[in-house]
Amino acid sequence: MKLLEAMQQRRAVRSYRPDPIEHAVLQELVEIASAAPSYMNLQPWSFGICADPAQVSRFDDQARQFLLNDWSVNAPFLAQREELSRPEQRLFHNAPALIVVYAVQTEVDAECACAMAAYGLMLAAHSMGLASCWVSQARPWLDSVEGHTAMGVPSSFRVIAPLVIGAPLAMPLSPGRFKPPTRWV
Ligand SMILES: Cc1cc2nc3c(=O)[nH]c(=O)nc-3n(C[C@H](O)[C@H](O)[C@H](O)COP(=O)(O)O)c2cc1C
Repeated sequence: MKLLEAMQQRRAVRSYRPDPIEHAVLQELVEIASAAPSYMNLQPWSFGICADPAQVSRFDDQARQFLLNDWSVNAPFLAQREELSRPEQRLFHNAPALIVVYAVQTEVDAECACAMAAYGLMLAAHSMGLASCWVSQARPWLDSVEGHTAMGVPSSFRVIAPLVIGAPLAMPLSPGRFKPPTRWV
């Protein structure tokens, strides 16, 4: 698949086949992600991978409950409170795999480099016939003591991109884009 096609056709997918994704495929995805550029080539990222669909589902329960428990901490997501309160609501969209991109340094623009790595991973997944969704709603839990412990990462790691990965059940239509605001000078 051509890069331009992947950039235009990739979608945030919210329904997945339950089939697990092979470890080798997830490993390949993080290696492609690490081809992203970074300030002084510091490569300020680390990847937490969960390939067990049942475990991803348990993480989903914990992340959702964490949000619902304390809206003072999770205020950015308050607008989705009613939706998230529904028991059938799944943060990870029943995806079989989760890859979390962490910033492991506080060097210049580490979070920008990690976001680039995440986007590269999403495009690579799409070009392999897989799909992804960046799920910021899971960040509060993943960045908590409980989340760090569950993912087995040090407390100094900062969550940049929680990405769910899987084979898509259906590809949504593009929600469209505004014409990019542009100023020519
Ligand atoms: C930083 C970021 C955070 C996002 N957080 C969520 C999220 O918490 N839950 C979700 O279902 N989708 C999330 N998305 C997916 C967006 O809703 C989606 O990318 C957007 O609606 C555009 O759709 P498209 O990616 O299919 O073009 C997120 C995307 C980005 C880039």
